[in-house]
Amino acid sequence: MSSLKLTVVESIRYRGNIGQWSWISHRISGLAILSFLLIHVWDTANATFWPQMYSYTVEIFKWFPFSVGEIGLMAAILFHAFNGIRISLLDFQPAWWKYQEKSARFVWGLFIVAFVPLALLMLRTTINHCTELAGVGESCFAFPLPSGLEANGLVLGIGIGVIAVGVVLWFVLRHPPTDAGARPRRAAGGSTLERYGFLFMRLSGIALLLLAVGHMLLQHIFRDVHNLTLEVVAGIWRSWGWRAYDLFLLAFAATHGLNGFRNVLEDYVHDDAKVRGINRALAIFLVITIIWSAIAIFSFQPDAVMTQVP
Ligand code: HEM
Ligand code: HEM
Repeated sequence: MSSLKLTVVESIRYRGNIGQWSWISHRISGLAILSFLLIHVWDTANATFWPQMYSYTVEIFKWFPFSVGEIGLMAAILFHAFNGIRISLLDFQPAWWKYQEKSARFVWGLFIVAFVPLALLMLRTTINHCTELAGVGESCFAFPLPSGLEANGLVLGIGIGVIAVGVVLWFVLRHPPTDAGARPRRAAGGSTLERYGFLFMRLSGIALLLLAVGHMLLQHIFRDVHNLTLEVVAGIWRSWGWRAYDLFLLAFAATHGLNGFRNVLEDYVHDDAKVRGINRALAIFLVITIIWSAIAIFSFQPDAVMTQVP
């Protein structure tokens, strides 16, 4: 049986209770948010380095299938955040493990109560946007076509994405999982680095509850993503406070997400030399991503940038 199929089969079979569903949903939601985040931060940096490209890509956010996908992203971040806090509480208070099943049910309940009204609000703004476009003879289902250089940028971006996903799948398919879902918790054993990593995942999770969930609510509920333009970003980044907020979000989300991804890969790769190689490659990628995006955030010139787009 291929390792990927084995993972899926074992994941469904292992324990087979609500805890297992929470575990697999936590993993899928974490990886989904990370995939979005990586595309999003490299794209947002274009607001500084290639404003025309940014102006084009924000239009893709408003395309109907993406708007619906963003509702899925809201689901992922809410579930992952609530369940992450539950995991952290249980890890810091092992005596509460007897409530693990009850707490999992509570998290699913809380998730539904928070997600349903937010999803309805997001659906409403999407329908309003489609109605407005229909009023001027346009369609929210039509993919915003790039012109000239932007088309090259889009092809390059998609190409890099496909290669990255291909490399990860190749790794996963070639390496059988240790024991899907039953990876030993890392708090007690492991190297000093692993122990710090374990603690960092939990503490950064608390920070991200405010930063990442706050950011999603700002983008989708308090500002409407369908009004997003380079000018809106210029308005936000006039404030050094928002720039600082974005820098913290960037540093915590990218480090937490890539460290989580490293933990997931370790379920598949058992060769020490390969694990060291993956750790190094991910650390270098993390540092480059943070430096590139931080330069973009702090060197952004709101007035100058607006003169570069038609
Ligand atoms: C579809 C949902 C989202 C939209 C429309 C959106 C939109 C934006 C916009 C307009 C900015 C620029 C300025 C600002 O508003 O602060 C921004 C920055 C940022 N967003 Fe989002 N965002 C979304 C989801 C997320 C998520 C889920 C994360 C991370 C977990 C995230 C992480 C960031 C970071 C780190 C920055 C800082 C700028 C940079 O990296 O260059 N965003 N986002
Ligand atoms: C919003 C608040 C968040 C909280 C409270 C949180 C909490 C956690 C916790 C406690 C873990 C460790 C789970 C374990 O070791 O069993 C974890 C894993 C993970 N997180 Fe988060 N997280 C949050 C946001 C994010 C964001 C924004 C991303 C993506 C950029 C992300 C991606 C991941 C990944 C990929 C894993 C590894 C999953 C696994 O090992 O199966 N998380 N999270």
